[in-house]
Amino acid sequence: MSTKAELNLDREQFLARYWQRKPLLIRNAIENFHPPLSSHQLAGLALEDEVESRIIEQRDNSWLLQHGPFCNADYKRDVPWTLLVQAVDHYIPEVAELRKLADFIPQWRVDDVMVSYATDGGSVGPHFDNYDVFLLQGEGQRLWKLGQFCDPDSALLPHDELRILSLFETQQEYLLNPGDMLYVPPGIAHWGIAQGECTTFSIGFRAPRVNDMLSRFVDHLLEHLEPDQFYHDALQTPASRAGEIRPRDLERVLAQIQGALDQDEGNQWFGELVTEPRYEHLSDDDDLAEARSLLAEGATSVKLSPQAKLAWQQEADGILVFANGLSQLYPLSVLTTLITLCEHWVVAAPALASAMDDPATAELLDYLLESGCIYVE
Ligand code: SIN
Ligand code: CO
Repeated sequence: MSTKAELNLDREQFLARYWQRKPLLIRNAIENFHPPLSSHQLAGLALEDEVESRIIEQRDNSWLLQHGPFCNADYKRDVPWTLLVQAVDHYIPEVAELRKLADFIPQWRVDDVMVSYATDGGSVGPHFDNYDVFLLQGEGQRLWKLGQFCDPDSALLPHDELRILSLFETQQEYLLNPGDMLYVPPGIAHWGIAQGECTTFSIGFRAPRVNDMLSRFVDHLLEHLEPDQFYHDALQTPASRAGEIRPRDLERVLAQIQGALDQDEGNQWFGELVTEPRYEHLSDDDDLAEARSLLAEGATSVKLSPQAKLAWQQEADGILVFANGLSQLYPLSVLTTLITLCEHWVVAAPALASAMDDPATAELLDYLLESGCIYVE
């Protein structure tokens, strides 16, 4: 798929009525959809060491989970089974293109594209996820059942790793054909059962835990906070009951904490958190040196790496760029190139030559090379 697939969806209406709230079936979400990966290719990927994959099968009412890498013998089973491969967009550019279907949602919310293959009757069981997902039907058909709204207290079957619901109340059922898409918001129970062999492309989103946001925010504040500040209680009334921590003392504590929280130390911790890569980027010094000289000598194009987590935010003094969990401030002149990269995933000649003429943009491209967000051709 070299040209961008069009998503047959009223985006405004979707965001106003469904996003994070209600499931939505989008029939023919992509006209004449040709899955960018066959089940055969998927099975091949799951043989690789660096690829994260799982097989789930149901045998006599118990659910079995096996982690990859797999070998061909693993694909011969006498009960229905499902192979799930994570972050396929990192390896297959045509699968990465599917992320563009969600380009009306901020890019930093998109996580990865997981692809599953199931034999007839195969399923990963009734469950709920904590994140939004677009389930795009690839080959074959899958029956999706939608159920109740769940929360962390919803009862699960006993299992060390799988989170299968012990109760599923079917509320809707949809049979998906190739190119149909089902949007499922976080917390909604869902259960997909293959009708014959089928593949499903799951465009998954990420949302930081409030826990993690809080801890990153506080860590960031603490880096800037004067360590020798102490609780202070001038103008207090005499203590009348020995040993008491008075309500007024606690009010002062909270007010002083609030004062510390209100110090404006910037918020780059957020972009750094949400651009943290799924897998660690291992850079090779020789490759980096080669890419740098190619870029300096006049490369044809720079392209966004499929695994790149790239975002930016405008600040009073420039553009703060987040690349795979790190951040750096650049002047406004980098913005055109940055947006082109985020939108089209490529900056080609002659735009690349003019980008390199701007010292700040040349510096940005070098930073993106080093952080593993782009590669040079
Ligand atoms: C699947 O593709 O079988 C499972 C996807 C999901 O339920 O999130
Ligand atoms: Co799910």
